[in-house]
This record gives sequence, structure tokens and C-alpha cells, in this order.
Amino acid sequence: MPSAPTIKLSNGKEMPLVGFGLWKVDNATCAETVYNAIKTGYRLFDGACDYGNEKEVGQGIKKAMDDGLVKREELFIVSKLWNTFHDKERVKPICKKQLEDYGIDYFDLYVIHFPIALKYVDPSVRYPPSWQNEKGDAIEISKTPLSVTYAAMEELYEEGLIKAIGISNYNTALLLDLQRYAKTMPQCLQIEHHPYLVQQDLLNLCKELKLTITAYSSFGPASFLELEMEKAKNVPLLFDQQDIQAIAKKHNKSAGQVLLRWATQRNIAVIPKSNNPDRLAQNLDVCSFDLEQSEIEKISSLDKGLRFNNPLNYGLPPSVGIFG
Ligand SMILES: NC(=O)c1ccc[n+]([C@@H]2O[C@H](COP(=O)([O-])OP(=O)(O)OC[C@H]3O[C@@H](n4cnc5c(N)ncnc54)[C@H](OP(=O)(O)O)[C@@H]3O)[C@@H](O)[C@H]2O)c1
Repeated sequence: MPSAPTIKLSNGKEMPLVGFGLWKVDNATCAETVYNAIKTGYRLFDGACDYGNEKEVGQGIKKAMDDGLVKREELFIVSKLWNTFHDKERVKPICKKQLEDYGIDYFDLYVIHFPIALKYVDPSVRYPPSWQNEKGDAIEISKTPLSVTYAAMEELYEEGLIKAIGISNYNTALLLDLQRYAKTMPQCLQIEHHPYLVQQDLLNLCKELKLTITAYSSFGPASFLELEMEKAKNVPLLFDQQDIQAIAKKHNKSAGQVLLRWATQRNIAVIPKSNNPDRLAQNLDVCSFDLEQSEIEKISSLDKGLRFNNPLNYGLPPSVGIFG
């Protein structure tokens, strides 16, 4: 059975270098998909309140543990704090609700999903809340600064409800600011990272700050084509890109495996999502071959600074765009 090597976070905790992404995993098949992923060898699961499937993920995990496939301590379960829960008093209750949905008592990593605070939406009104306010007729910003939300995350960490602190979708300026107020620096930054969006400056800063990077949307436009996003229709699929195809052919691997190896070989963790059992298995086997340095550079040279997961896509006014 293939399994992924691990990477040591700055607090000494080992995190699998390859995990399974849970965004857009259908509720109806989610528990079975998670169970099969564990059977295939996945140990890291990347979930979030916003994905709306945390109860089903928990059911899949429970079945795998009940069947003796895996123990809790062998899994690395990641979840995320949604934007509408940034206010200080909302952080712990929602983290506890999410843990209850999974049926576990700690997260291995809990991540601030976006550096964007939105007005609180009570879970009894709508869950997951998505981007809109309680009435569902507008996006409303909360006044809570990130330093306050981060301090509440540190409390979760000190209490042992979470074993590592993560942030996501932060740029270099936000990281430098965080360094001013953090008592405990985060261990992990999750960012969109693929050959069309390399963000080398951000990668360099993370190295200096000893922050492990997890890449999401490693296949670039593929994930956003599923959402019918125009931007994703206007560029070639990375799987079809001729340099990537040639490299894949040379190594006798698929284009998807080459894209994932391009990240893992540079110690960047990946969390591909697949609803297809063959691709799910293939995506785990991405550390058993090495690319040449020139191949890594060739893939990196496809960079276009092209971001697909921009918060502006979800209705935020341009004045709160975070990526400049
Ligand atoms: N922090 C954040 O803001 C954030 C944002 C986005 C995503 N994420 C996390 O990152 C995870 C991964 O990102 P993602 O879901 O955007 O997309 P992704 O993993 O880059 O791409 C998924 C797409 O690629 C296809 N695919 C998967 N493996 C393949 C392979 N080997 N060959 C060809 N096609 C393949 C999938 O189709 P099939 O399912 O049909 O295989 C699906 O269409 C998410 O699930 C989520 O956990 C985090």
C-alpha cells in the first residue's frame, strides 16, 4: 500500500506530505470516499466548515477506525475556521462544534481559512454560512482584526483542542504583520500553488519563517472548470501542457503525478481531491520518483501569476480584495 512521507512542522509534529482534499466531495458519497481513501493509504484529510461535509467525513473516519484500518493517532485531520467566525467569542464554540461533527476531540491542524472577517451567522440560521450575512442578501464585513482572531486560535492551541495552527490565503505583507503579534508562530500556510501561480517571494519568506507550505489546487484550472469559471476556460489545462506531458512520458507517470511531484520534491505538501478511485490512488504515489532540477525549473517557468481562488469571485467588493 503506498503511503506518503511526512514533513516535520516547526513544533515537531509530523505532517503527511500528501493528503486528501475534501472540497467538492459530494455529501452522498463522502463517507465512502474517505473510508476508501484511508484504505488506499491516505492519512491526512483537509476539511473545512465551508465544504459542508464534515459530518460525513467523520462517518468515514469512524468506520475506518471501527474496522481497525487505522487509529486516531495515525491520522492527521485538518479543518478550517470560516470567515463568519472570526470574532473572538465565536472561535472556540465553532471549533468545538466542528470537532463534534467529526466525532473527534482534537484537530491536528486548524487553519484560518481566509484573512477576511465577516459578520457572524448563527449556525442555526445557516450552516455552513458561506459568504452572505444572516439574511442572505449581502456580504458584510466584521470589524475584528486578524490579530484578535489569531489570539483566539492560540488559545485553542494552548488548550490542546488543536495540535498546530494554520493560516491560509495570506500574502507576504499579512505574514510580516502576523510576525508582530503572534506569541506562537503558525506552523503551516495553505496557499493556491501550481505552475500558473508560483508565488516565489511568498515561498522564500515562508522558508525564512519556518512555515511549512501546503499547496491547494495543485492542478490549477481543473478545479475551477468544475465551477464553470471563465478564467479557467481561457488557459490550457496543465495536464495538456506539452512540457508537462513530455516530462510525464519520460518518467512513465501521469501529468497529474508530475504536477504533484513538482511540489512535494520542494517539500511543499499537497492535498489533491479526486472523486475517482484510480486517480485517488495515483495521487498518493507522488514521492516515489524524482524530477531533474531542470524539469522543476521548466515547470516553474510556466508561471503566469494566475490566481483562480480570488475572494473577489465570491462577491466581495474590490475594496476588500486582499491580493493587491
Ligand atoms: N484554503 C483554501 O482556500 C482552499 C481553496 C481550495 C482548495 N483547498 C483544498 O485543496 C484541495 C485541493 O484543491 P482543489 O479541490 O481545488 O483541486 P485539485 O485537487 O487541484 O483538482 C481537483 C480536480 O482535478 C481532478 N483530478 C484529480 N486528480 C487528478 C489526476 N491525477 N489527473 C487528472 N485529473 C485529476 C479532479 O477530478 P476528479 O474528482 O474527477 O478526479 C478535479 O476536477 C481541496 O479539496 C481543499 O481541501 C483549500
